Amino acid sequence: MKTLTITKPDDLHLHVRNGAVLKTVMPHTARQFARAIIMPNLKPPVTTVVQALIYREEILQAVPAELDFTPLMTLYLTGSTTVAEIKKAAESEYIHAFKLYPAGATTNSDSGVADIKAIYPLFAAMEQLDIPLLIHGEVTDDACDIFDRERVFIDTYLTGITDNFPGLRIVVEHVTTAEAVQFVQEADANIAATITPQHLLFNRNAMLAGGIKPHYYCLPIIKRESHRLALVKAATSGNPKFFLGTDSAPHPTSLKESACGCAGCYSAHAALELYAEAFERADALDKLEGFASFYGADFYRLPRNSGTVTLEKTAWKVPPAYGEGELSITPLKANEELRWKLAKG
Ligand code: NCD
Ligand code: ZN
Repeated sequence: MKTLTITKPDDLHLHVRNGAVLKTVMPHTARQFARAIIMPNLKPPVTTVVQALIYREEILQAVPAELDFTPLMTLYLTGSTTVAEIKKAAESEYIHAFKLYPAGATTNSDSGVADIKAIYPLFAAMEQLDIPLLIHGEVTDDACDIFDRERVFIDTYLTGITDNFPGLRIVVEHVTTAEAVQFVQEADANIAATITPQHLLFNRNAMLAGGIKPHYYCLPIIKRESHRLALVKAATSGNPKFFLGTDSAPHPTSLKESACGCAGCYSAHAALELYAEAFERADALDKLEGFASFYGADFYRLPRNSGTVTLEKTAWKVPPAYGEGELSITPLKANEELRWKLAKG
């Protein structure tokens, strides 16, 4: 196959940050995707509808004029989020979900939730008002091995949440393990998951064998090959519970290439190309459109997009960096060749 045309896709899990870096990252996403679920883990976090609307405007300012892109905003849950704010969010056409970060689990999660059971009344309100809950599913316990944190979260918290709030729509974000895939498959139809390109393409050897490679470091951390295979199987199965969410997470190169490097892979420059490579390797390019363009929109009860994008089988080399100076970002597969290229629209 030399070209692949699919309905314009959506990115159901994206970090774009705020300030100057928006100008570097927004054109990448807006070229590829019609819409994206925007993560609220700014410093300080986006916890109210008012803040999210201001952030939304800032994002729109950074979208090139010739591109049509809609940010789908989310709010960051804290121990002090109120039921009144959940009502406000549910009434807003711009707010599409709440994000739960266990406190300390990942980048900018310090204001996250320390006691998940204590916010059950908020989950009850979300269930009743039918607004989705997006979960970073990792325990933060120091005693828990970092490669086990997702699996342990399922038994410690996730089953409790799904049992207590059977009507709540939940996205288990960026699943990375066979156990999370199985949990989502066996759960009710209102439980779904996003899968990133890096977790489909790489196992932990990419990050740790032959030298430590910080640009492959993200959370949840990339796991062993058996887990990657389970993720590829889920993503290419045609099961609508699994859909595209890049988790593209820009950090300045200097903060990644450091004695204590930040978590997050930048993939917005070539998100569809990376997914296409993973689907092609699994001989499942015919399943890419559902995963990228239909199932996420259906889950969020948004209309499917009307335009298309075309990928061409043309090799190209990813540049070493995007952006200038201190804010420059090293993309996934920097200086390496990709097999697919998004055609100019
Ligand atoms: C994300 C970030 O940098 O904001 N980092 C990451 O490793 N994925 C946060 C997140 O989604 O965990
Ligand atoms: Zn993320």
